[in-house]
Amino acid sequence: MKDIQAHINGLRHDFSKMSLDEDTLNANPFKQFEIWFQAAIDSKVPEPNAMMLSTVNAKNCPSSRIVLLRNFSAKGFVFYSNYESQKAKDIELNNAVSILFFWPELERQIRIEGKIIKQTAAESDIYFNARPRNSRLGAWASPQSEKISNRKILDDLFQKVEKEFEGKEVTRPDWWGGYVLEPERIEFWQGRPNRLHDRICYSKTFNNNWEIARLAP
Ligand SMILES: Cc1cc2nc3c(=O)[nH]c(=O)nc-3n(C[C@H](O)[C@H](O)[C@H](O)COP(=O)(O)O)c2cc1C
Repeated sequence: MKDIQAHINGLRHDFSKMSLDEDTLNANPFKQFEIWFQAAIDSKVPEPNAMMLSTVNAKNCPSSRIVLLRNFSAKGFVFYSNYESQKAKDIELNNAVSILFFWPELERQIRIEGKIIKQTAAESDIYFNARPRNSRLGAWASPQSEKISNRKILDDLFQKVEKEFEGKEVTRPDWWGGYVLEPERIEFWQGRPNRLHDRICYSKTFNNNWEIARLAP
């Protein structure tokens, strides 16, 4: 532990790769997200679509986990999950959530906040049917977020659904599907020297325009 503490004490990264300024920024935050996402792909960021999703439960306690961004457009940011999971229960009670991307290779962070709606069943079907068969079986097998007493239970559940669907198409369970985060605030953060980072925030106005502001780091 002492060694780890010494190591942590020595971790002092000075960000210096790029800058973010109002002159080159796109007025549309989705376009700006697309530009940065493309840069993350080009820079070979591992799993650039992995994002931290934070929700709040009935006791107002927040929790975070990684989910994968599967699509984005001006309608919002799409991910898929189990509609009976802990996160789903949180969203049911309070659909205000945040997602966060951190791409250290580019010294960039993107924070997105807004409200979640469910995708239509037809849209969820299209995505589910495009998944590999074993991933589809996994969705049927796992009671996501439930307590299970051992690993074997999970493997047995998988084998059971494998048998049930033998020779059949694996269709989407109705407790599994897409969520769309409709953003109200999107902040782009670019690391800069001396901790004087660039933060540019787009906030949705009452008439559905985007107001752009620079924030102190
Ligand atoms: C790289 C990575 C990708 C993940 N992608 C998803 C995903 O797209 N959907 C999902 O439900 N869980 C995904 N998970 C698992 C979640 O982090 C989490 O364990 C699970 O959704 C249960 O969370 P909950 O109990 O808070 O509902 C992923 C985990 C990792 C590490």
